[in-house]
Amino acid sequence: MAPSSPQREQWSSRLGFVLAAAGSAIGLGNIWRFPFKAGDNGGGAFVLIYLACLLFLCVPYLFAELALGRKSQKNPVGAIRAIRARTPWSLVGGLCVLAGLAILSYYAVVAGWAVGYIVHDVTAAAEPSSAAFERFIADPVWVVLLFGAFLFTTIGVVAGGVQRGIERCAKILMPVLFVLICLVIFRAVTLPGASAGLDFYLNPDFSKVTGLVVVEALGQAFFSLSLGMGAMITYGSYLPDNENLVVSGSYVALFDTVVALMAGLMIFPAVFAMGQNPAEGPALVFVVLPEVFGAMPLGSFVGLLFFLLLAIAALTSSISLLEVVVSYLVDERAWTRRTAAWGAGGLAFLLGLPSALSQGAVPALSDLSWLVGGHLLGPRPGLLDVMDFLWGSVALALGALLLSLFVGWVWGSDNALRELRTGRGYTLGGLAGPAWRIAIKYLCPLTILVVLVFDVLYDVL
Ligand code: PHE
Repeated sequence: MAPSSPQREQWSSRLGFVLAAAGSAIGLGNIWRFPFKAGDNGGGAFVLIYLACLLFLCVPYLFAELALGRKSQKNPVGAIRAIRARTPWSLVGGLCVLAGLAILSYYAVVAGWAVGYIVHDVTAAAEPSSAAFERFIADPVWVVLLFGAFLFTTIGVVAGGVQRGIERCAKILMPVLFVLICLVIFRAVTLPGASAGLDFYLNPDFSKVTGLVVVEALGQAFFSLSLGMGAMITYGSYLPDNENLVVSGSYVALFDTVVALMAGLMIFPAVFAMGQNPAEGPALVFVVLPEVFGAMPLGSFVGLLFFLLLAIAALTSSISLLEVVVSYLVDERAWTRRTAAWGAGGLAFLLGLPSALSQGAVPALSDLSWLVGGHLLGPRPGLLDVMDFLWGSVALALGALLLSLFVGWVWGSDNALRELRTGRGYTLGGLAGPAWRIAIKYLCPLTILVVLVFDVLYDVL
């Protein structure tokens, strides 16, 4: 089969790229994962550490992925082959593609729950919202249906192509997302008693900071910027030579950070105003918030808006997960985009079924504590939690470690810096260039290695 178009597609403009890449970055990670991680790990202090990780590690690393993609004009496997053909390094590209498929398979399950809260009154029954949530995610019919519908939408967008699918979708949805977030923040901070939440969120309490908090903050920063699995290599590969990677990459990081911080502003004031506990873990968004919405004026409308924005954010991220796999199949295997999108999306559906059924529907999948234990996974991890740990934490860290070594040492930081300096406008002049090289050659690999070892030891042992 020949590729659908002989010419590789590109973004139509800088705005198109920035919105699509910010769409990838902004997702469940910002709105579901960030607030509960912050809530569990001491609020403001976690936020400060998170910001430091972003600035010193994630943003320099983001530039490296973008440079590799733009230089090679290829998917992660092709990008590595373009720099070093026929070496084991191509396996790192393979890891990226696998991670894309694996993360998509459970990410779309959680996104399906968010859709469920829009289309179906999950918490309307006269029972506590935690019981309602547990009943809902254990219902195989609803969960699989919503998961499938969400994947189906993702496939439809990706099959539409870079400009007419991904970019157009981001251009419509990202502004809608922003407006919805502002509306929900407005409602949250004007509730009586909201200031206690602001205080928790904005005043750092360093007594809560342990090594584990730093590990969590760094992991969250990588996940949130979609780093470590080649999404930014792929999106960078659709950029033209005259685009300034440093400036547009910085916009992406800025938008992602602003939205994560805003998610805290929606959630903590409301949680405190309604007397709820911010350290509720993954249930924060699905259990605590519905109670908060149920108790506040205009709550059901705000709740609807909230889950709508959660689903929108998740959609633009799952698109990028699928696009990594599709770009590989199109570039390296000469599949048409349409076949690749349906084939990879269908595979993600099959792979995700066990995760979808692992929240109570099938008991054997719902409690893997005999297999893995540890702190981060909680006392009764289901398959979905294990997948998130293996792929969303360990594989991303491993990918980021290997890719930073590849860019810093194999491709060479000189070559990468040259690529970053191609394009109009500010390009890491003065001390920024050498600082970037130190970050990519030493700081990133060493810190990620420490985090990876810590993560695995702490969690599995
Ligand atoms: N960044 C996305 C989020 O915050 C998740 C993601 C990770 C997307 C890796 C693509 C690649 O939800």
